[in-house]
Parts: sequence; C-alpha cells; structure tokens
Amino acid sequence: MKVAITAASGQLGTQAVKAVLALIPSTNIVGLARTPDKAEHLGIEIRPGDYNERGVLEESLQSVDGVLLVSGMDAPERRIQQHRNVIEAARSAGVKKIVYTSVQGADEATAFSPIVQSNRQTEEDVRHSGLAWVIGRNGIYIEPDVEYLETYKKAGGITNCAGDGRCGYTTRPELAYAYARLLTDEKHNGNTYNLHGEAITQYELADYLNRAFGTDLSYTPMTVEEYRGDRVAELGEFLGTVITGIYQGIRDGEADNPSHYLEAAGREHVSWPTFFASLGKQEATS
Ligand SMILES: NC(=O)c1ccc[n+]([C@@H]2O[C@H](COP(=O)([O-])OP(=O)(O)OC[C@H]3O[C@@H](n4cnc5c(N)ncnc54)[C@H](OP(=O)(O)O)[C@@H]3O)[C@@H](O)[C@H]2O)c1
Repeated sequence: MKVAITAASGQLGTQAVKAVLALIPSTNIVGLARTPDKAEHLGIEIRPGDYNERGVLEESLQSVDGVLLVSGMDAPERRIQQHRNVIEAARSAGVKKIVYTSVQGADEATAFSPIVQSNRQTEEDVRHSGLAWVIGRNGIYIEPDVEYLETYKKAGGITNCAGDGRCGYTTRPELAYAYARLLTDEKHNGNTYNLHGEAITQYELADYLNRAFGTDLSYTPMTVEEYRGDRVAELGEFLGTVITGIYQGIRDGEADNPSHYLEAAGREHVSWPTFFASLGKQEATS
C-alpha cells in the first residue's frame, strides 16, 4: 500500500510523515508539498501538491492508494474548493482512501465558526467522495502556549476570554501518531474521531507551565469584547478576531468534547503531567 501525505512541509505534515515511517517502508510513502524544497529533508519521495492546482494534484497522486489531506490555511471560502481539488484529484487518480484532518469548535456564533463550518463542508465532501474515508477532528494545539511562554512571563500571566471553559488540547506528534494508524489500518474506515487529550482549563494550563518552567503565571479571564480589542490591536482584524472566536468557543464548552483518541490511536493520548514534565527536562538540559 502506497500512501501520500499532503502539506508535508508543514509541522503536522512532517510529524505525520515521521509517524507513518515507523509503520511502513519509506518507498511506500509520498509527500505532497506546495513548496517541495521545504520537504526534501524528510527522506521520502516528494511531489508537488499546491491545493490550488487540481491537475498537478492528480498527477502527484498517481500510484497512491491512501492520502492524508491536511487541512489548509486559506480563508474558509477558498479552503473548501482547495480541499475539493484534492478530493477530486484523488478520485480521478484512483486513490482508494482519504483521511482528513478536521477541527473541533463552535459551528456557530463565534468568529472561528466560518473556519469550523468550512471544515464541516470538507467532511461532507470527503464522506460523499466515493472513496473509503476517515475523519479526525483535531483538538487545539498546545504547543503555541508553550512557545508563548516568554510573552506570558512579560505579561505576568495568561489572559483570554476562555473563562472556566475546558479545552481538549492535543499536540502535533500525538495527532500524527493517530493519523498514521487511521491512514494505514482499514478498520477505522467510515469513522469520525475527536482527537485530543484530557480537557483542561486555562487555570490548569498556567499551573502546568509553572511546574514545567518554574514560572509564576496566573490566569485572568477577560470578556469576549475586551479580548477581541486586545487581539485585534496586536494581530490585526482577521487573525485577532479568529483567535478570539477560538477562546469564546472554549468558554462556551465547544472544545470540551468526548475524545476518541484511544480508539483511533490504539493507545492513550499523552497525559499533560507527562507532556509538561518532558518539556521541563528539555529546558534543564538545553
Ligand atoms: N488544531 C489547531 O490548533 C490548529 C492550529 C492552527 C492550524 N491548524 C490547522 O492545521 C493545519 C496544519 O497545521 P500545521 O501546524 O502543520 O501548520 P503549518 O506548520 O503552518 O503548515 C501549514 C502547511 O500548509 C501548507 N499549505 C498552505 N497552503 C497550501 C496550499 N495552497 N496548498 C498546499 N499546501 C498548503 C503549507 O505549505 P508551505 O510550506 O508551502 O507554506 C504548510 O505545509 C493547518 O493548515 C490548519 O488548517 C490547526
């Protein structure tokens, strides 16, 4: 069985390639990339894979049996067609199975909802593609909060509009571990899985960061309006509004869903004490 992974140059795509390499020979794995040069280091065959180029995608998916479609980053209305290009190219190229990395979140009433809705549309397109399919709905990545540590330290803590809401965070390597299995094992076909670890509050997130890095961060909730003003001032209208929508969704319980990680991956998701302890160790040895 030959499999392809799209967006192989990105962080999730790269981790997915590594996770599939642990399961099948490298000669059976193809990476698709909009910028192939950025993926050459992965040690597998790399083919061109811009989601806007339907004909190129069809060419690149020749001889492939299963494809992992990593969701794109474009505006929601453009994303739906880009994903359709991959789905249609896969069907025309004779691909038998498609696995899609979707997202959890509020379908309505937040500024993140148009992105969630575009993912739901692609889910529908995948289900009706005529190919065998599996859909993963990713939790929110926790890594950006770790990368934000210095910013949190300068600000004295974490501030957003999630309030007491719990968030089912995950990590890219944990997602990749699950997707490698969803792609290569047909027992998962026809399933939609929520992929995340234990749901935690922002208060717990601050505690975990403090224990790992010896910081003294606290969490201070803001209203949605206050947080939107703060994020738009720093990140601009589009991104600032979308980020606010994500945290509003957490506040409203939209990121606190049952996890199907064990079923999908065949093992438990890493626990947050273990994950943060490993970060603390990395810091101590660097
Ligand atoms: N769950 C979450 O918390 C969360 C957060 C952020 C994003 N996401 C979603 O998860 C996806 C993967 O995340 P990531 O961490 O791997 O992001 P990343 O490191 O920024 O990588 C994005 C990837 O998308 C590729 N890409 C962008 N436009 C493309 C196009 N038109 N055709 C083909 N490839 C294209 C990029 O290719 P180039 O190398 O050519 O730029 C890159 O490989 C994102 O695209 C987004 O949909 C999820």
